[in-house]
Amino acid sequence: MDKHVIEAYERGWMYFSLLMILVFLVFIGYTLSGYAFYVPDAARRIDPTTVRTGGFPQPHVEEVAPGKYQAYVIGQAFTWLPSEMRFKVGDEVTFFVTSPDVQHGFYIHGTNINVQVIPGEVAKVKTTFKRPGEYLVICNEYCGIGHQNMIGRIVVEE
Ligand code: CUA
Repeated sequence: MDKHVIEAYERGWMYFSLLMILVFLVFIGYTLSGYAFYVPDAARRIDPTTVRTGGFPQPHVEEVAPGKYQAYVIGQAFTWLPSEMRFKVGDEVTFFVTSPDVQHGFYIHGTNINVQVIPGEVAKVKTTFKRPGEYLVICNEYCGIGHQNMIGRIVVEE
């Protein structure tokens, strides 16, 4: 093989390697810049010590428009409040979930709702229940000795 061809081939790989180094440096810079970290919206930050004393609405479900609901949920060791919520098929529900103590996981079985419940933050997630039935709200973040009993219920009626 012509030695100039080999050089061109080698040069190609050298440029490729330099390009990859550049790409990695950009990624490292991006990470260090802080933009890569998840920072909760200031509006959703909350003092976890006041969750039970007025810093967060009492756990409840509220109809804000026909067929539209807002559910204020507290996940605490080892229960969900409210422990049961009832909706109708087609209802659009926005959940606001927080914790006064440790991290919990708000997972509604049979749906794609699965949010981390972090003290000091209000998680917000919206869904429309399309199928009737009983959905379990399961804590999927280990939160202590009673973690496996931290189960709530959502009943969706026709
Ligand atoms: Cu709450 Cu596990």
